[in-house]
Amino acid sequence: MKEILGGIIRPFYGDIFMEKSKVVAQMRQLIQLLAKHNHAYYVMDEPSIEDSEYDQLFHQLKALEQQYPEWVQSDSPTNKVGGKALTKFETITHTVPMLSLGNVFNQEELFAFARRVEERLPNKKVQYDVELKFDGLAISLWYENGVLVRGVTRGDGETGEVITQNVKTIRNLPKVLSSDKVSVPSLLEVRGEVLMPKAGFEKLNAENEAKGEKTFANPRNAAAGSLRQLDPNIAASRPLAFYAYGIAQCEPANEITTMSGSLQWLTNFGFAIGERHFICDNIQEVQEKYEQINQERPNLSVEIDGMVIKVDDLKQQQQLGFLSREPRWATAYKFPAVAALTIVENIDWQVGRTGTLTPVARLNPVAVGGVTVSNVTLHNIGEIHRLDVRIGDTVSVYRSGDVIPKVEKVWPEFRPDDAIEVHLPEQCPVCSSPVVMPEGEALARCSGGLYCSAQRIEAIRHFVSRKAMDIEGLGDRWVESLLHLNLLKDVSDIYHLHEHRDELLGLEKMGEKSVQNLLDAIENSKKTTLASFIYALGIRGVGETTARMLANTFQTFEALRLADIEALKKTPDVGEITAEWIEDFFKATHNLEVVERLLAAGIHWDAPIAPTRQPLNGESWVLTGTLEQMTRDQATAMLQTLGARVSGSVSSKTKCVVAGAKAGSKLEKAAKLDIPVMDETAFLALMADYGLTL
Ligand code: IVH
Repeated sequence: MKEILGGIIRPFYGDIFMEKSKVVAQMRQLIQLLAKHNHAYYVMDEPSIEDSEYDQLFHQLKALEQQYPEWVQSDSPTNKVGGKALTKFETITHTVPMLSLGNVFNQEELFAFARRVEERLPNKKVQYDVELKFDGLAISLWYENGVLVRGVTRGDGETGEVITQNVKTIRNLPKVLSSDKVSVPSLLEVRGEVLMPKAGFEKLNAENEAKGEKTFANPRNAAAGSLRQLDPNIAASRPLAFYAYGIAQCEPANEITTMSGSLQWLTNFGFAIGERHFICDNIQEVQEKYEQINQERPNLSVEIDGMVIKVDDLKQQQQLGFLSREPRWATAYKFPAVAALTIVENIDWQVGRTGTLTPVARLNPVAVGGVTVSNVTLHNIGEIHRLDVRIGDTVSVYRSGDVIPKVEKVWPEFRPDDAIEVHLPEQCPVCSSPVVMPEGEALARCSGGLYCSAQRIEAIRHFVSRKAMDIEGLGDRWVESLLHLNLLKDVSDIYHLHEHRDELLGLEKMGEKSVQNLLDAIENSKKTTLASFIYALGIRGVGETTARMLANTFQTFEALRLADIEALKKTPDVGEITAEWIEDFFKATHNLEVVERLLAAGIHWDAPIAPTRQPLNGESWVLTGTLEQMTRDQATAMLQTLGARVSGSVSSKTKCVVAGAKAGSKLEKAAKLDIPVMDETAFLALMADYGLTL
C-alpha cells in the first residue's frame, strides 16, 4: 500500500489553506496514479491494486477537490470512471445460444416434468440440481486465457449487446481468473445473472429519494437500468452483483461430470453462486426444497422468482437435449405471484424525512399471499397518473415474496361514478408550507424545510453536524430526549436550551457535567463562518462546497437571502435548479422566522469570509469592449469568485483590463497608465488556470 501511494499521502486536512501550487501538485499526482491503475484495470485487465485501495486514492482526490473546488483539474477522474461513455452498444451473435427455460407452477406440473425426464432415461438414477432462480438479467462472460474479454447481454438469445465496460464494474465478478486448485482454461464462457442485492437496492433508492431523483420500482429494474447505461460510470456507481449458474464453453474441457460440480468448480475462481443450492435424489425432495425456499425467500440477500430444477448429470443432460428453444433437462419452478382485488378508500400524502411527499393508498384490508395489506405506496404523482388510480377504484394489489405490495392495475370497469381524482396538494399536509415540484422532477416536496416537523430530526442532525454548526455532543440520544420533552420544535430552539436547564438535568443519565458540556458546545458553536451557517440551514442542493461558493459570491447573509435566481446562478456550482431551491427556501416565511431566531440568538461570523485566501483578493479589474466568448456577467462572476472587484473605469489602482472587440477610451487610458491588458482568450485561460470555466 505504501508503495502504491508513493509517499504522497500526508493528511491534507491539517493545513486548512495550502498554497495553490501545493494543492495542484497533489491533485496532479493523485490523477496520474489513478490513471495508471485505471489503465491497468480497464485496458490491460491486470488490476494493479485492490479495489479498496483504488477507492482510497479516489476519495483522497475527491476530498481535496471538495476543499479546493476552484482548482479541480479538468482531467480529473472524479468526472468519469475508467472507460468512455458509448453512444450505442455493439451487438454480437452468441456462439452457444442463450436459451430460455420452460416453466412449472405447481407440484403436479413439476412431477410431470420429472416423468418426461425419467421416461427418456430408463433404468437410470436421476438426481436433480436445485438452484435459486435469480430475478435479474442473464449475461454471458468470455474469459480468454483467464482474462475477462467480453460481457454480453442475453438479447433475443441469438444476438446480444456487448456491455463489457459495464460488466467490468461489477465488483464481485473476477476480471482475471486464477486458482491454486484448478488450472485456468484457455477459453471459458460463464453464464449467469446480474442482480442488485436487496440491501444495495434499498440504499440506492433511499439515496435517490433524498436527492430528489427517480427511484426504481424493484431490484430487477434497477439492475437492468444500471447495466444498459451507455456510460459505465453509472453502472460503476450501482451496487450490482453477478451470480454464475452455468458454463457454456470450456477449453480444454474440465473433468466435471455434474451440474452441481460445475458450479462448485466455478467458485474456485471466485465466482459467486446462489446462497442456497441442493442436490435431490428424487422429485419429492425437489418439491420440499421448493417449499422451504419459498418460506426463506424474505431472508435471502437477493430477489428470486422461483427455483431452477436441472438434471444434475451432464451426460444425462446431453441425452435429453432440447425441445425447440428449451432444454428438456431443466425447468423453472416459479413461485406463485400473489394478487388480490380491493378498493382504494383514500389516498393520503406522507411527508418523508427529507420533505418528499409520497402518496399512500389506504385500502380496504385484503389478504395477499398470507399477509393483510391495508396501505400501499403509490411512489409519486406520476405513478398516480400512469395507473389513473382514483379514490373508490377497484385495484389489483400484488405482492411477490417479500417485496412491498404494490398496485398493479386499476379496473376501470368497476369504477363508481363518484370516484375522486387525486391531485398533488398545494400545501404540506404536516406544516402547510407550499409544496414544490421543480420541472422535470418526479418528486414533490414540502418547502417547509427547517419548520416542517416531519423533517425535524434530519434537519437537526444536519444542523449540528461537524461541517455545519459543529455542536459536538448533541447526538441522536440527546435529540430524541429533547424532542420528547418538546424542547426542539425547530433548530433555533437549540439556542434556547439553556433556559430549560432543570428539565435537561431531570433527564435520565444526564448529569450536571453532560448538561454543562452540551450547553458549552452550543454556546461555542455561535461563532461560525458564513459558509458553515449557509450549509447548516440544509437548503436543498446546497452542500458544503456550494455553501462556500455562495458565501464567497454574496459575502453577506442578507445579500444571499435577497438574491434572485439570476444572481444566484452567477455563483459557480449553482445551476438553474439549485438556484430555484435556494429561492424556494428563502420564500418560505417559516424558514425566515427560524433564521431570524438563530441570528437573534447570537450566531455570528467574521465578515466577509477569508478574502485573503482568494487569489485576486482586493484587486480592481476593468472589463471593456464587446465580449464575444462570454457575457459581461459571467466575466464579472468569475472575477468576484476569485476575490477581485470589477470597476467601471480605469485608474492607477486598476490591476488589469480585459478588452473585447471595439474597446475604446479605456484601452487608451490603460496604455497611458501602463496597466496590463489581456484579450478574452488570455482571460479565459487565466480563469481556467484557477479552475473556473464557463
Ligand atoms: S439456467 C438453457 N439457472 O432464467 C437455459 N437460469 O428462463 C439455462 N435464470 O434467462 C438457464 N436463475 O437468466 C438458469 N439458476 C439459474 C437461473 C436462471 C435465473 C434465468 C436465466 C434465463 C431465465 C430462463
